[in-house]
Amino acid sequence: MNDKKVVVIYKSNTGFTQKYSEWISEALGCTAISLSETNSLNLNQYDIIIFGGGMHAGKINGIKFIKDNLSAFKDKQIVIFATGGTAPIPEEVEKFRKNNVPENENLPFFYFQSGMNYEKMKGADKMLMGILKIMLKMSKNKSDVERGTEEAIKNSYDYSSRQQIDPLLKYVKSL
Ligand SMILES: Cc1cc2nc3c(=O)[nH]c(=O)nc-3n(C[C@H](O)[C@H](O)[C@H](O)COP(=O)(O)O)c2cc1C
Repeated sequence: MNDKKVVVIYKSNTGFTQKYSEWISEALGCTAISLSETNSLNLNQYDIIIFGGGMHAGKINGIKFIKDNLSAFKDKQIVIFATGGTAPIPEEVEKFRKNNVPENENLPFFYFQSGMNYEKMKGADKMLMGILKIMLKMSKNKSDVERGTEEAIKNSYDYSSRQQIDPLLKYVKSL
């Protein structure tokens, strides 16, 4: 990393991605800023942009920002991370990467398990979770994954931990 300037940009609805972004910024001694506030920032000054968003029905919240700016960021190093309730099973993480991270750019992707926060969730998201709960409840011959999901989303939980960012820190420090 040496003299490279780094910024963490995040999109966070219930605070998990913000918390991970702040852990990363503390560890790297760089700024972490919400995507909605990036207008106030001159992104030209940064060499490395770390972008993070929460998983939202299989999509990384805010990933459009990276997709839309790929050509503007072509001289920068982009690192993407996602937070989500799903356990960090390699096959699931690979699915998240494949469905979200632009393939031809070969961008590094990291996944950090977080949880679910019903207290901070907005109305539309609460409704979506309610529908998912009903669908899982009604589903007959549930698979192990469905049973696990049904159990996991009943209440708020938090599996986030600072140590999960270590591989990302190691990678960024190697740049
Ligand atoms: C409507 C909704 C959909 C979600 N979809 C997924 C998902 O597809 N995969 C996953 O692992 N977690 C999913 N989650 C859990 C969030 O990804 C998790 O809480 C994330 O850390 C939220 O980040 P934030 O608090 O920064 O917005 C979902 C949560 C909500 C409310």
